[in-house]
Amino acid sequence: MCGIVGYTGKKKPINILVDGLRALEYRGYDSAGVAFWSNPSIKTVKRAGRLNNLVSALQGIEDKPGYAAIGHTRWATHGAPNDLNAHPHSDCTGNIFLVHNGIVENYKTLKEELQKAGHKFYSETDTEVISHLIEEEIKNNPLYSAKRSILNSINKLQGAFALLIMVKSEPEKLFAVRNFSPLVLGINGNDDEYIVASDPTPIARHTRQIIYMNDGDMAIISPKGYEFVDFKHNSLKKDIAQIDWDIEEAQRGGHAHFSAKEIFEQPDVIENVLRGRLIPEEGMAKLGGLETVREKLRGIKRFVITACGTAGFAAEVGEYMFEEYGGVPVEVELASEFRYRKPILDPETAVIFISQSGETADTIAALRESKEKGALTLGIVNVVGSSIARETHAGVYTHAGPEISVASYKAFTAQLTALVLYAMLLGRQRQMSMTMGKRIAEELKNIPQLMRQVLKQSDKVKEIAQKYKDFNNFLYIGRKYNYPIAYEGALKMKEVSYAHAEGYSSAEMKHGPIAMIDENFPTVAIIPKDSVYEKNFSNLQEIKARSGPIIAIATEGDEDIKYITEDVIYIPKTLEMLTPLLTIVPLQLFAYHSGVLRGRDVDRPRNLAKSVTVE
Ligand code: F6R
Repeated sequence: MCGIVGYTGKKKPINILVDGLRALEYRGYDSAGVAFWSNPSIKTVKRAGRLNNLVSALQGIEDKPGYAAIGHTRWATHGAPNDLNAHPHSDCTGNIFLVHNGIVENYKTLKEELQKAGHKFYSETDTEVISHLIEEEIKNNPLYSAKRSILNSINKLQGAFALLIMVKSEPEKLFAVRNFSPLVLGINGNDDEYIVASDPTPIARHTRQIIYMNDGDMAIISPKGYEFVDFKHNSLKKDIAQIDWDIEEAQRGGHAHFSAKEIFEQPDVIENVLRGRLIPEEGMAKLGGLETVREKLRGIKRFVITACGTAGFAAEVGEYMFEEYGGVPVEVELASEFRYRKPILDPETAVIFISQSGETADTIAALRESKEKGALTLGIVNVVGSSIARETHAGVYTHAGPEISVASYKAFTAQLTALVLYAMLLGRQRQMSMTMGKRIAEELKNIPQLMRQVLKQSDKVKEIAQKYKDFNNFLYIGRKYNYPIAYEGALKMKEVSYAHAEGYSSAEMKHGPIAMIDENFPTVAIIPKDSVYEKNFSNLQEIKARSGPIIAIATEGDEDIKYITEDVIYIPKTLEMLTPLLTIVPLQLFAYHSGVLRGRDVDRPRNLAKSVTVE
């Protein structure tokens, strides 16, 4: 999704903006641009494609220190990803320059009105409308300050937007506006400089002091200081927070790709999720973030878990965990569907929102709808201070660290682990015995070690990926706890290798998909020794009988599986509910190696965005 960076301070801005945009590349983009002061006026440089195209275009251009500057990576929504549609956008007079993340829903009406008033548009974007709107406001009220004109203009916008605006008449100032799209302000008090960005990653290399903007905030920032107002012009007081993660964490750490780094660091991530939260001797989970609602949770009769994409598959695994061990009924729903139904919610229902970024537009909309209907809202979120983390009544951070790879790996296993802790807490409040709680806690403690064993097989998985490099269709199947894992494994394959991969229930094969099976259609089967092993095994025999090649993820010691499969990757034995934490690892590796062998940009697959902040 689009990334925003802005700077005001005594340094030359181009390098700061470009570095900031590089730090935001992981969000996904298809063009980039910057606007900065260069004698005698503001200069805009924009290029379609990778950031390096912009960097080349900036060669030899002088930038002026001491003034405001803005930059943007665009992930196209309205209009093709070309130079013209790239941000920053400007008005007819060349006085206003701005970058935008989000969608202006009423842009068509506004554009028609502005065209009637004589404004000329050069791009297909919804964003350009905002600059003309501000221009019109200034024209009609020449005595107003830029701040007032901007506030009056944004009050006419509908939709989601984070904006960073420069106005020629106030050259040192950045005007930052947040409404349903994220924006944070970094404060480097020592150097009298300020950086605004879509998330803290570009800021962390300059300062640790940060203000998370809220929806409905505008910040007016210059090297002399900043002020915050709401959209009704009232002053706001803000707390300064500290960035508490290390920028090194956001680097590749010796791996060829962020994807590999993030797959391999999963055992450490699980340890982080568990740290201080597991009380094995009591068979309990202690979740500080849920303390305020702990008693309320006892009275909850029904849970809904909602999320998108990979987080949605974690939610589905959670459903099995909560019902088997938590002893509560659960429904899982995609956030994008939830928001458009009329979900039946009441104060005895808790809705859990799972999100890596904490900024996914559909999930946020589902959260707001749930709050409106009086449900208890809980989070499982990775990014600290993100919208979902702040807006839920209570929640649990996954502590997975910054996830740079666009495809989600470590955030997923962190979400699964957090769901186990939730299930333990709910179960022990209801019918789960201490003995069962202890058993889960003991097995869970071992998971990082078992995961390390699975990761050691990376080279073997690579060999299998090499063997299937030229196959363009895969079926992924599993049952019960590993049914959602089949979907997640297939999603990873699609995302990073661009091969067609379909997730399915092993049991459902015979109701249709088995028609596709022949010697050119491999199946990836997740078949640990669990309560559905025998059934799963019969389903695989049906595939074998039709000459379909099978790659199995099975439990160590299972020799029978070798007779019906071409390749087997073994996982160590663990409790059935925890098997997804191990079975997903070879599937992540398979997708990763397949992507690399096929020459894909595995960290930044085409057409994808890290943080999906539009519907
Ligand atoms: C897939 C992937 C996406 C996200 C989805 C939700 O690898 O990363 O499917 O899981 O866009 O994003 P978050 O978790 O940030 O809400």
